[in-house]
Amino acid sequence: MQLKGKIALVTGAAKRVGKALALALAAQGVHIIVHYGRSEAEARQTAAEIEALGVRAWLHSADLGDEAQMLGVVPAALSLAGGLDILVNSASIFPPERFDEVTPQSWERNMRINLKAPFFLSQAFAQSLNEGQAGTIINLIDAVAMRPQTHHFSYAISKRGLEALTENMALALAPHHIRVNAIALGAILPAVNDNSDKFTRMAAGIPLRHTGNPQQVVDAMLYLLRADFVTGEVIRVDGGRHLI
Ligand SMILES: NC(=O)c1ccc[n+]([C@@H]2O[C@H](COP(=O)([O-])OP(=O)(O)OC[C@H]3O[C@@H](n4cnc5c(N)ncnc54)[C@H](OP(=O)(O)O)[C@@H]3O)[C@@H](O)[C@H]2O)c1
Repeated sequence: MQLKGKIALVTGAAKRVGKALALALAAQGVHIIVHYGRSEAEARQTAAEIEALGVRAWLHSADLGDEAQMLGVVPAALSLAGGLDILVNSASIFPPERFDEVTPQSWERNMRINLKAPFFLSQAFAQSLNEGQAGTIINLIDAVAMRPQTHHFSYAISKRGLEALTENMALALAPHHIRVNAIALGAILPAVNDNSDKFTRMAAGIPLRHTGNPQQVVDAMLYLLRADFVTGEVIRVDGGRHLI
């Protein structure tokens, strides 16, 4: 896919990894709908940085845990930008939670935001494309959650679901020239509100012996967007963490 002049909806684009992805797309000439939840000031800052790169930026806030708001995201993006070519599902929650701590509410919330929202945004995105128009979906998943683990319990299951969703949607949408791929992140940024040295100490458990950064996720995204013969694929950006 040629990126210049395309239009992308990036969820959770106000800060951190989502912001890096949105800015990298903008640097390639892509116009961006900056979706955010609560981070309005950061979203406005991201939009300003995008426009400084010479492309359009539109802001849209929606709580992806609220069904009506979630279902309104793609229609809002279409009315703001007039069309879509790329969807990046980056917004997510990451609550620590052991097996015994899972409740119906926590389970439901992880599934809604991390799995149900990416599905219904993807469905609306696919239905918005003209027949024959190439579209691309990128889902952000988790390299650690692709293996059995017992912390962040509901989160891990939701991300495994998103991995399966990536493959199933890739198969369903391939006849319509819509590609669906995922990036599985390892230790890219410390968890929100983690002020300990836990993230720094993670390097010792990574085969490449260092943590990553958002630019490495950007590189994977740009590859997947341009790779016209690749769909249903997961690129792990995790320093080899999945090997051990
Ligand atoms: N960072 C890492 O090292 C790492 C590792 C593995 C996987 N990942 C995955 O990579 C992606 C990006 O990571 P990240 O660390 O940048 O994510 P993050 O900072 O934890 O969250 C990204 C954004 O998600 C939005 N969000 C959360 N709940 C929402 C809701 N109910 N409605 C609307 N938006 C909501 C928030 O937007 P607002 O702030 O506007 O509310 C938040 O800024 C995520 O899918 C994550 O699971 C990241």
